[in-house]
Amino acid sequence: MIELRGLGFDYPEASVLSGLDLEIGAGESLALIGPNGSGKSTLLKLMCGLFPPTRGSYFFDGAAITKSSLSDARFAKSFHRRVGLLFQDSDAQLFCGSVYDEIAFGPRQMGLSDEEVGGRVEDLLSLFKLEGLSSRVPYHLSGGEKRKVALASVLALNPDAICLDEPMGGLDPKTKRALRELVESLNASGKTVICATHDFEYVEGMFSRAVVLSKEGRIARDAPYAETIADRAFLESMNIV
Ligand SMILES: Nc1ncnc2c1ncn2[C@@H]1O[C@H](COP(=O)(O)OP(=O)(O)OP(=O)(O)O)[C@@H](O)[C@H]1O
Ligand SMILES: [Mg+2]
Repeated sequence: MIELRGLGFDYPEASVLSGLDLEIGAGESLALIGPNGSGKSTLLKLMCGLFPPTRGSYFFDGAAITKSSLSDARFAKSFHRRVGLLFQDSDAQLFCGSVYDEIAFGPRQMGLSDEEVGGRVEDLLSLFKLEGLSSRVPYHLSGGEKRKVALASVLALNPDAICLDEPMGGLDPKTKRALRELVESLNASGKTVICATHDFEYVEGMFSRAVVLSKEGRIARDAPYAETIADRAFLESMNIV
């Protein structure tokens, strides 16, 4: 589904990712691990097509994701519907005047009927137990509530691949467990899950594979998740624990 070939990314002031070769198949569940600043968020944003790579190539189901393909409205619309991103910072994701409109935004953009949009929003409000917050302004919610609304808005498009950027951050233990179960059930239903995380305790059992980025933004290891997490000396050498 996702194929990176010699991918690199430079912000105007800084080179972040370099020489990434990576293939992620449909239905995989993969953890993206690395010290602060190693480029995890940048990589997830690239995979979701927020911007194209500045070096090397990114193919999604064989189609090259480039500046020109992302500016082709028809291609971009179908691609963005298939890969969703839960931002590390929920405030960067929420912009509508009510929780209902926030979750409805994507389905409305897709041109679904009011009835279909309504059905989808109600299902998600109930899944996240957000019914009571439906008319609230997302910006005024608590951090955990914002995270739930943001995730509901991502799932509203029913994407094939879901990128999660440190989804556990700031959640209480019960909500973390509920989120883990939800992500596991999404993966069991065939969704591809790619998740940047440091929350090893709460993501136990969620992932089959771990890709570790070095502080220089290169792939330092790509191996089964359990094996990687058990290798304390390696994680220490990478400045992760
Ligand atoms: N918009 C931007 N402009 C310039 N530099 C940026 C921008 N966003 C990120 N960077 C830089 O790119 C590097 C990688 O950032 P990124 O957010 O991808 O790392 P990360 O692995 O997600 O870190 P963390 O664990 O802290 O979330 C950092 O050095 C950061 O300062
Ligand atoms: Mg990050």
